[in-house]
Amino acid sequence: MTSTSEREILVTSALPYANGSIHLGHMLEYIQTDIWVRYQRLVGNRCHYVCADDAHGTAIMLRAEVEGITPEQLIAKVQAEHEADFADFKISFDNYYSTHSPENQKLAEHIFNICDAKGHISRRTITQAFDPEKELFLADRFIKGTCPKCKTEDQYGDNCEACGATYSPSELIDPKSAISGATPVPKESLHMFFKLPDFQALLEQWTRSGSLQDEIANKLAEWLDAGLQEWDISRDAPYFGFQIPGADNKYFYVWLDAPIGYMASFQNLCDKTDGLDFDHYFNKDSTTELYHFIGKDIINFHGLFWPAMLHCADFRTPTAVYAHGFLTVNGKKMSKSRGTFIKANTYLRHLKPEYLRYYFAAKLHNRVEDLDLNLDDFVQRVNADLVGKVVNIASRSAGFITKQHQGMLSAEVSEPELIAQFAAAKTIIGTYYEKREFGKAVKAIMALADTANQYIADQAPWAIAKQEGTGQQVQNICSTGLNLFRMLMIYLQPIVPDMAAAAGDFLNTKITWQALDTPLIDHQINKFKPLMTRIESTSIDSMLDDSKQELAKEEALKQKQAQPVGVLEADPIAEQIQFPDFAKIDLRVVQITQAETVPGADKLLRLELDIGGEARQVLSGIKSSYQPEDLIGKLTIWVANLAPRKMKFGISEGMILAASDGTGIYLLEPDSGAKPGLRVS
Ligand code: MSP
Ligand code: ZN
Repeated sequence: MTSTSEREILVTSALPYANGSIHLGHMLEYIQTDIWVRYQRLVGNRCHYVCADDAHGTAIMLRAEVEGITPEQLIAKVQAEHEADFADFKISFDNYYSTHSPENQKLAEHIFNICDAKGHISRRTITQAFDPEKELFLADRFIKGTCPKCKTEDQYGDNCEACGATYSPSELIDPKSAISGATPVPKESLHMFFKLPDFQALLEQWTRSGSLQDEIANKLAEWLDAGLQEWDISRDAPYFGFQIPGADNKYFYVWLDAPIGYMASFQNLCDKTDGLDFDHYFNKDSTTELYHFIGKDIINFHGLFWPAMLHCADFRTPTAVYAHGFLTVNGKKMSKSRGTFIKANTYLRHLKPEYLRYYFAAKLHNRVEDLDLNLDDFVQRVNADLVGKVVNIASRSAGFITKQHQGMLSAEVSEPELIAQFAAAKTIIGTYYEKREFGKAVKAIMALADTANQYIADQAPWAIAKQEGTGQQVQNICSTGLNLFRMLMIYLQPIVPDMAAAAGDFLNTKITWQALDTPLIDHQINKFKPLMTRIESTSIDSMLDDSKQELAKEEALKQKQAQPVGVLEADPIAEQIQFPDFAKIDLRVVQITQAETVPGADKLLRLELDIGGEARQVLSGIKSSYQPEDLIGKLTIWVANLAPRKMKFGISEGMILAASDGTGIYLLEPDSGAKPGLRVS
């Protein structure tokens, strides 16, 4: 049971789309939310943190198609990746779910049905661009053509990247479907709309609740003043999503069921947790708190449609929506060519998660402003603060306690005032955390770390220890140092949870907020181990290189998705040659008789070829697209007179031919009837 002072809080982060990887921009949000959640738990509030993958929509449907898998397979694969990244970054979700879930379908239908029954859903026929080849209605971003103003070709949707003009996609000259290349035709279809203007008064009141950031309240007030529009919540088949009850082949627009996914994830958590009651958190008169952490690009969905839908369906509205700005890297938008579009997973191959958690915390505030990850500053700051200041306190104090006092701390603290000063800081540091002013919290904590270092420097236990009979004095100084260190680690726990846990192990104690009031005296500690290592700047360089390579692969797939099928942008044709040059190449039909992976090689398969009664071995870089067992028996084309090449993994005699577009590899096969040994000409 909960005590009266204990708050009951439900927190969410925005649900990442299930068609791409988590990158450091996303991580800003999940780290910000997680620090706040961990702080709430540390001070003893009941705080639940749920999230999910946002699994619906056209983009996901098309991506699955390009990858040659079902949307269900795609979202399962991506969700597994997302969950692994979040776990590695220590994001402490109580539940991570999917919007493509039975709970979400039930809730979405429920909310829609109530809104409909109350007369807040309207229906009318609208005309939209339709791709006659794909038989698909085209959202603006899937139409491209020539800008009607400046005549630049290949402009997407409703604005021109060259001249900045905005227009309706129907004004594009020579419009084409970005999916098939076909010319779109206008087509009518019945759509359903959520009557947002019915909720003007509710939204005005919610906006003035006082718990929103000023920037958000102002933005919402602007929209409310301009007058609200009905919101199109239906999409025609084919669409990956939930069918709208009572309508044929109509689906809920992804943004209808996405925020409902917050509820569905919580519902799913309640169903597996004793004593956690969904209605207690979502009924109209709930006294619990509900917070959504989001990025600045999705304020309209969370500040207008979402509270209106909740209210309409007789649920409580959010206590607040907290928006953050966007992440830039080295002062610029994250860029694939600079390698600064860094995926979570790429980062983790080179650097520890807590470095980034600390750096983001040090720079985070509660405003809707962008935040810069400056990589030089990142290295400098993490090394100077976490290693240079915090760990230093422990490493300078621990040795004397372990070596000269069998790991025992003194029986009383020698500097009660200093200890009291550190403990008293909990009010201000706690307030900063509560208000999401993490940068200010970090600043206050580092000021304490400076004080602690100064204390040890002034006392210089290493100098005192050289004199006879000073054992007690040295033990007292170092015990004080370790108590100060312990308090710093309690304050830092929401930011660097693993480091705090390691500090707890070393000090043989639990890291809790209450512990701030009870110093460790007459207490046995464990042997000191370095709690945090320095960032090497070479790790940054290798991360950026890795990132560039990773994203080249991604880009190739995107290209394929954006290009009309069959009109893939080809490499420019190579320089002309004369026939005698071509005739020098001896191409043969061969049969693959054996295929196996090569230990230690990422891309290679070892193939044995029947070249017409004789055997040859080639090492071929086709592993990413073929299983060895699927290759055995296949006929292909072999360059017979290519000089053998000595590779790290053995000799390759000639090569076999395949086409590649950066994402897939396609082995060339002769028509049926061809036999090993035949010459190709
Ligand atoms: N699926 C929607 C959210 C639905 S919530 C009911 C979505 N997904 S997203 O994957 O594009 O973004 C997830 C969150 O990450 C959003 O809050 C978004 O603002 C945030 N960020 C995405 N890129 C970001 C940066 N570069 N910087 C900071 N936050 C960023 O939107
Ligand atoms: Zn233009």
